Amino acid sequence: MPLTVLITRKIPERGMLILEKNGFECIVHKADRPMTRQELESGIKNADAIIPMLNNRIDASLIDLAPKLKIVANLAAGTDNIDIPACSARGVAVTNTPGVLTEATADLTFALLLSAARHVVKADRYLREGRYNGWDPLLFTGPSLNGKILGIIGMGRIGQAVAQRGLGFGMKIIYHNRNPLPDKITAPLGAAYLPLEEVIREADFLSLHLPYSPAVHHLINKERLEMMKPEAYLINTARGAHVDEKSLVAHLKAKKIAGAALDVYELEPLLAPGLADLDNVTLLPHLGSATHDARSAMTQMSAESVSAVLTGKKPRNLLNPEVFQSA
Ligand code: GLV
Ligand code: GLV
Repeated sequence: MPLTVLITRKIPERGMLILEKNGFECIVHKADRPMTRQELESGIKNADAIIPMLNNRIDASLIDLAPKLKIVANLAAGTDNIDIPACSARGVAVTNTPGVLTEATADLTFALLLSAARHVVKADRYLREGRYNGWDPLLFTGPSLNGKILGIIGMGRIGQAVAQRGLGFGMKIIYHNRNPLPDKITAPLGAAYLPLEEVIREADFLSLHLPYSPAVHHLINKERLEMMKPEAYLINTARGAHVDEKSLVAHLKAKKIAGAALDVYELEPLLAPGLADLDNVTLLPHLGSATHDARSAMTQMSAESVSAVLTGKKPRNLLNPEVFQSA
């Protein structure tokens, strides 16, 4: 019997070719929507490996249904959808796809930042609605980026790539991270470490790039939104639950900050009530890593991790190395 890989959504070809070349039987969920819990529960039963999407919750009770399961190869850098200790306890390896989506996500962060500052989406809508009646010195003005302060929370690979772009736009970079980074990383970016709330208070553009865990749930809450400058923008391409969306909606409605630009939501695909009615917010459907290059590389990485584990080798990006110590 060939080894079976459950892939919970249609993925780019590059990963499929690797899995097929290695002789695995690939079961792909082909519907144009995420797998339901029920579909996951029945699909995982015979799986030797699973390549889940970031919106599939992989928890202890699911893994318990899959006695043959050897690896969960998340098709994402973030792993907050996976109970890693539960996987470890059952000897199941967990991998992710960091690095290959760094530049794509930093690009999208800047697409959002510029769209928000220069009203790109709103202005496009206005034009299509036939409302443009000639050049106007007051039409859709917004802040320049040059000389403005870019505040970055979470200075991992993506945060650093965003800082690099900010530098290119003439911005001053301040950041907060669990630990300050070595000078050799931050000096070329001109990036200054500050306590969290100082970054929030000083930023003209505040951008979130930290991984999600319950410890940072609603990190940007009502109190911290109140700390932001009235002319500041909040940008989130990390995870929705970093932000208390209810407070954000109230804050934007009262025009207490200039705007927000979001790629992620706490209850994706649902939006917080009132969010889509606001015109000082730009909303995208979780497109951070959505370049052909990044998505192909992510699937390659996941497919290689699956291939490694199913042939008894240690995969790259193993998040629970203890699984391999006893092997
Ligand atoms: C996307 O959000 C990812 O974590 O890869
Ligand atoms: C992404 O890969 C990060 O570590 O920031």
